[in-house]
Amino acid sequence: MCGIVGYIGPRQAEQVVLMGLKKLEYRGYDSAGVAVIEQNGKIELRRDAGKLANLEQMLIASPIKGHIGIGHTRWATHGPPNQRNAHPHMSMDERVVVVHNGIVENYLQLREELEAEGIEFTSDTDTEVIVQLVERHLGTGVPLITAVRNTLRLLKGASAVVVMNVDHPDELVCARLGNAGGITLGIGEGEMFIASDIPAILEYTRDMIFLENRQMACITQDGYSVTDLDGRSVTTEAHAIAWDPVSAARGEFKHFMQKEIFDQPRALIDTLGGRADFENGRVVLPEMNLDAVLIRQLKKIYIIACGTSYFAGLVGKFMIESMARISVEVEYASEFRYYDPIIDEQTAVLAITQSGETADTLAAMDLAQAKGAALWSIVNAFGSQAMRMVDGYIPMQAGPEIGVASTKAFTNSIMDLYLLACLLAEARGAINKGQLSRLVADAGHIPDLAGQVLDRDDEYQELANRFFKANDFLYLGRGINYPVALEGALKLKEISYIHAEGYPAGEMKHGPIALIDETMPVVAIVTRDDLYDKMVSQVQQAKARGGLVIALATDGDETIAREADFVMHVPEAPPLLAPIINVIPLQLLSYHIAVRRGADVDQPRNLAKSVTVE
Ligand code: AGP
Repeated sequence: MCGIVGYIGPRQAEQVVLMGLKKLEYRGYDSAGVAVIEQNGKIELRRDAGKLANLEQMLIASPIKGHIGIGHTRWATHGPPNQRNAHPHMSMDERVVVVHNGIVENYLQLREELEAEGIEFTSDTDTEVIVQLVERHLGTGVPLITAVRNTLRLLKGASAVVVMNVDHPDELVCARLGNAGGITLGIGEGEMFIASDIPAILEYTRDMIFLENRQMACITQDGYSVTDLDGRSVTTEAHAIAWDPVSAARGEFKHFMQKEIFDQPRALIDTLGGRADFENGRVVLPEMNLDAVLIRQLKKIYIIACGTSYFAGLVGKFMIESMARISVEVEYASEFRYYDPIIDEQTAVLAITQSGETADTLAAMDLAQAKGAALWSIVNAFGSQAMRMVDGYIPMQAGPEIGVASTKAFTNSIMDLYLLACLLAEARGAINKGQLSRLVADAGHIPDLAGQVLDRDDEYQELANRFFKANDFLYLGRGINYPVALEGALKLKEISYIHAEGYPAGEMKHGPIALIDETMPVVAIVTRDDLYDKMVSQVQQAKARGGLVIALATDGDETIAREADFVMHVPEAPPLLAPIINVIPLQLLSYHIAVRRGADVDQPRNLAKSVTVE
């Protein structure tokens, strides 16, 4: 998980930045760097792969004296983790440096244009196009804030950036595009701070300002100004962050669950990091230790999990079967552990577990291992049992998930299953290089699409205000969206205590249709895919029986507005990745309903974050 720190004021910038990055170490990273403008007006840069201890040793050996600086901890998304790819990145004229969280989706096109103008790139990263573009705009004589604004207008995708320039040694410019992680301004006395996460600067100030999407700020040691991407001034309110570490960790959010829902674009970027190679259009999963012979002879994959992780597994079945043409069976771990499953040397068992300590899942893994299956896992908690005991694993890299109701672990699990499906498909020759490259490129758009859905939170809150008193909900989905219906129902029932059921839409006529009446909202996932027409007729069936339908539909779909009572719109997404986008409105609907009902959102009654007992 990438971390950003910036500083301007009377202290030694190098130390403020380094200490701040250390406070973000929990987020995980593979390289780090610091840049400071020295008294002589030159930018000094120290960066390398590896941990902050390496960087600290570099700074001890060769300190940088200066009062304005920026720093970054990087989780590789474009280009391997090494010295040349570590941030900060410097322009060709060595007068501008930038640190960046996010994905520049159109970086290849921008890089080609800049190289055609004679710019020589020194890294494999997407970030470097930002700093080269800022240098080009500065060359037209505009102020730094304008040069950065003109640069950001050219970028596609979600980004958070901080820029420093020797010709403007008294200011830093930062900006947030989409939801690739936050930019927080810390307001000090005669000094100012910038951070991607509050803990990095909490020891210096409690007065924080959180940039919204498409906002920029220029900070000097005496203060700050915030504008939008069109240059219009924006009035912002400073938040006084509470002293206790728990609410400090919640930051601008009321609950951890809300924070984690909004953290999903960054978490998705982080799980793509070091795995989706956008430049070469391929996937690498180093921790999976995949055996080419096994992959080619693989006949079956069991996916075992519990709760939300099980629903992610159901999505994974669609991905792996459609891309890699390997038969997949998804089983509740609590059932599988008492099965006598048919496992041979052509069988793999994949466990999905956020905590990595779920008793049922571990027991099922033990059974699989005892029967000689190749054992894999997709796990969020580093060092957990489910990560240690397997032949190969994929770290979810979602960051700590505190809320009992799982959100970002669900969407990251789905992304990891997608990456695994791509890799298996390529290794078995089920897809060609061109198909693989398109599938990888599709994944790169998802963090920004997720951010676009989050920007519609008010729409979902409005619906929650309308339905929070309902006693029953029915969630309907079909195909790859059937697991999303199951997950939407689970989210609602576990945090609001409203009875909610997820059902395959085609099964409605075999029973649940008897439940339909105007008191039970029916949430129908009717986004554009090859089952769209079938879903529209399900909506019509529910309406014909006096049902009340809330449809989840694709932007621009006017048909469904005529059929359903309410519509939540989402941007179009590639069908295999649509569950990541479609689940977010359901997460937010559940969250707002639970808040309206005064429920304990982060710690619902009777539930534990990790069920370590049978
Ligand atoms: C999800 O919202 C629930 N809290 C629960 O179903 C959870 O997904 C399940 O207990 C599995 O947990 P795990 O992913 O840590 O194994």
